[in-house]
Amino acid sequence: MPTPPPPNDADPKDGPAPTVGLPQYGTWSGRFAEPMSERMQRFNASIRFDQRLAAVDIAGSRAHARMLAGAGILSKTDLEAIERGLAAISGEIERGEFAWKLADEDVHLAIEKRLTELVGDAGKRLHTARSRNDQVATDVRLWLRGEIDALSAQIKALRRALLDLADRHADAIMPGFTHLQGAQPVTFGHYLMAYDAMLARDMERFADCRRRVNRLPLGSAALAGTSFPIDREAVARELGFEGLAPNSIDAVSDRDFAIEFEAAAALVAVHLSRFAEELVLWSTPRFGFITLADRFCTGSSIMPQKKNPDVPELVRGKSARVIGALTTLLVLMKAQPLAYNKDNQEDKEPLFDTVDTLADTLAIMTDLVATGLAANVDRMRDAAREGFATATDLADYLVSKGLPFRDAHEAVARAVREAESRHCDLAELPLPDLRGFSPLIDADVFDVLTLEGSVRSRDHPGGTSPRQVRAAIAAARASLA
Ligand code: ARG
Repeated sequence: MPTPPPPNDADPKDGPAPTVGLPQYGTWSGRFAEPMSERMQRFNASIRFDQRLAAVDIAGSRAHARMLAGAGILSKTDLEAIERGLAAISGEIERGEFAWKLADEDVHLAIEKRLTELVGDAGKRLHTARSRNDQVATDVRLWLRGEIDALSAQIKALRRALLDLADRHADAIMPGFTHLQGAQPVTFGHYLMAYDAMLARDMERFADCRRRVNRLPLGSAALAGTSFPIDREAVARELGFEGLAPNSIDAVSDRDFAIEFEAAAALVAVHLSRFAEELVLWSTPRFGFITLADRFCTGSSIMPQKKNPDVPELVRGKSARVIGALTTLLVLMKAQPLAYNKDNQEDKEPLFDTVDTLADTLAIMTDLVATGLAANVDRMRDAAREGFATATDLADYLVSKGLPFRDAHEAVARAVREAESRHCDLAELPLPDLRGFSPLIDADVFDVLTLEGSVRSRDHPGGTSPRQVRAAIAAARASLA
């Protein structure tokens, strides 16, 4: 049999690698007649990665102990010992002195064991009226609540950077695309505000999901509740939960809140990936709409001329991990019988990876948008001029002179064909030639055939006119204040 890999072959984002040894502590081993093999320990343990729940686990334990004491289930002396012990453990973990051991299985048992070492029997009383099933559900919710807040703040920062860039380019004309074919002129500011609109929805989704994350499972114990006279409301208040998970069986088994978060996170990742894709396209010499600062790019080891847009490419690529994590959690849950099953231990790594990936992605995109993206406005304008982008404006002009839209469409299509054969833009066709397509065309047509006239005329909420773009920026800024 090949030897299993050492426990710390893992992600450096996990805490210190747990040391290996046979379980000595009898948390649940009283019923068992034989020790665990090292292979079984490795397979069973979550301590390598769930260490990151330590701070919330301690907060949850403190609140639980206070409630037990308040309800007369735990003595005042025991509570004092527990609080003292938990504070000491916090310090040990913060200073990197805590001994994480594979044999302790998970963060919950490791902390409880250390507590008992430090304060004796009081430590053993902490788990009264509690199970790791309601404990872990509480920990994940507490942790995720904090991460949702941190990610929302990061989205805000990215939006602020986008708004600043949009403000500087509220008048800059570029071609807007459908089917990736030049369609109609828009402003670069309007384009950027499309991403702001997506990120605004992302913030709403996080806020909405947070409300369902923020329910207290503790008190459900293993699955059926507890015979002790507990006060769940008091624990909820102390931990800042907005309410109680209403059913003990559901509470220990439910991971909907994590799936909702993953779905919202996947959308953030998809939005950033779409934006990244445009940055990749626009920074190619063929488009040349933007220049990315060198520090967001890399060179090629063989082609000296290359400057590759690695940051947007990685942002696009990393969305795959987040989308995958959503699928992982859905599949993890789909056939589980009620209530808690050990399968649920597998919820953590995808969740942690999603949070890490999104945090990194948002941070670097904010940096790039704020400091590393130069718009080549002349190139954008030239591209908008090239593609008959004002053809719709000409059709609208004819409609405003009384021609039915379908006839106007036909007349303009013929004009476009003519301009195409002459390799010129619509605005470069002489008036007499334009009149050949419709006698309704007069000299004032050139007002609508200009790019500036075209964008200025789309002057309603949501439209691309610089005035509307500035109004949208102002509204977004106010919503972020
Ligand atoms: N490490 C476990 C998890 O992450 C904690 C809960 C264990 N519960 C149990 N009944 N074995 O889900």
